[in-house]
Amino acid sequence: MFKRVAGTKDILPPEVFQWQEIEARARRLFAAYAYEELRTPLIEELGLYHRSLGEFTEIVQKQMFVIHNKEESYVLRPEGTASAVRAYLEHSLDKTEGLVKFYYLGPMFRLERPQKGRLRQFHHIGAEVIGSAEPEVDVEVVSLAGRLLSSFGISGYQIQLNTLGCPRDKKKLLGLLYEALKGQAAALCQECRQRLAHNVLRILDCKNEKCQALVRSLGLAHGHLCQECLRHFATVKKGLEALSVSYEVNPYLVRGLDYYTRTVFEIKHCGLGAQDAIGAGGRYDNLVKELGGPDCAAMGFAFGVERLLLALPREEAQGKKAGELVYMVSLGEEAKLKCLQLADVLRRQFVRVAVNLEPKSLKSQMRKANDMGARYALIVGDDELKQGVALLKDMSTGEQKPFPLSGPFPFLPLEQKKI
Ligand code: HAM
Repeated sequence: MFKRVAGTKDILPPEVFQWQEIEARARRLFAAYAYEELRTPLIEELGLYHRSLGEFTEIVQKQMFVIHNKEESYVLRPEGTASAVRAYLEHSLDKTEGLVKFYYLGPMFRLERPQKGRLRQFHHIGAEVIGSAEPEVDVEVVSLAGRLLSSFGISGYQIQLNTLGCPRDKKKLLGLLYEALKGQAAALCQECRQRLAHNVLRILDCKNEKCQALVRSLGLAHGHLCQECLRHFATVKKGLEALSVSYEVNPYLVRGLDYYTRTVFEIKHCGLGAQDAIGAGGRYDNLVKELGGPDCAAMGFAFGVERLLLALPREEAQGKKAGELVYMVSLGEEAKLKCLQLADVLRRQFVRVAVNLEPKSLKSQMRKANDMGARYALIVGDDELKQGVALLKDMSTGEQKPFPLSGPFPFLPLEQKKI
């Protein structure tokens, strides 16, 4: 027997109903913000991620699913931002559209050690706004992330906000950190000793207690920021306050990907244990240029869907089925065909219908109707068929009465139901 690959999941009913609900709510809210969907391939050129995420990031160094094929190397996409920028440039949207507001839903792949909330195939719900450096874009993006959580019914989260500054400020910050920490390498964990040489910023969010204590003793503030970046950050904070979005400034917040500049944010949830980040994002004002495009600022975020599901309150986590089901109980060969015909008519009106197609007893078919949570059972037997009637049973009240097969039926099509 084959088994699924470690760190991947099969999503079966009823869990799949939660996924559909989350996706439907996300799509509805993105539409309200005038974001449009982008679908990119699951495989990309390996170089795209080396260039965009940074050679010394954890993803590039340890977590890429690489596929070598003759002279070419591909990778299963570990995130969606680089793909979005690649698509933006490949389709010359910088020339035709200018500002674009994309959203995406789909699987991402990272070769990690699987644990609760950390998978090798996981799913993002993300958004990218490409083509503007205005701080109000940051405000809209961060507040949209918060509104998405509310629309899923999730509370108990905290938005942490920081700014890394422009590339020049970021370089200054790296220098400051290096100078402050190089003499204390012995006090750092083994990994941070390597980070000191290649990725000093990541020392700031190392989970090791000693590293954390050392970092906190540096008393980081925003002293490395230029006037313009300070102004940008102040406008972002003011905008969030104007929209009543709660946040906390965390000057130690950095992100695991090199492309970030200026605003970064992470959303943590108190109920998730070690993997407590349900979503994160920030500005990446240099990435478009880095990937061969014009000087074009951008900002985005992504939620991990598996972590969103862990954070769902119990009543939301039940998931909802697609709508009221009509179960057709068929007793006899002619009845079966009649049921198929009738179902065909109803299904074309988007009524949700399941037809029994097997030679089963009335009792076993009624049990199945019950198990499937049917709202109505329509019982059609060869004898009743001759009189042009069926028995309609309301499964919630138990009431049962003859019903003309010519209709009209009391079933509501799916589209009229509230999701
Ligand atoms: P990220 O922080 O790497 O950012 O991923 C975003 C979210 O994906 C995380 O907060 C977490 O909820 C979820 N996630 C990440 N790795 C895993 C995993 N192995 N298993 C389950 N969930 C996971 C990005 O990917 C950026 N592209 C976000 C962004 C968009 N920044 C700007 N635009």
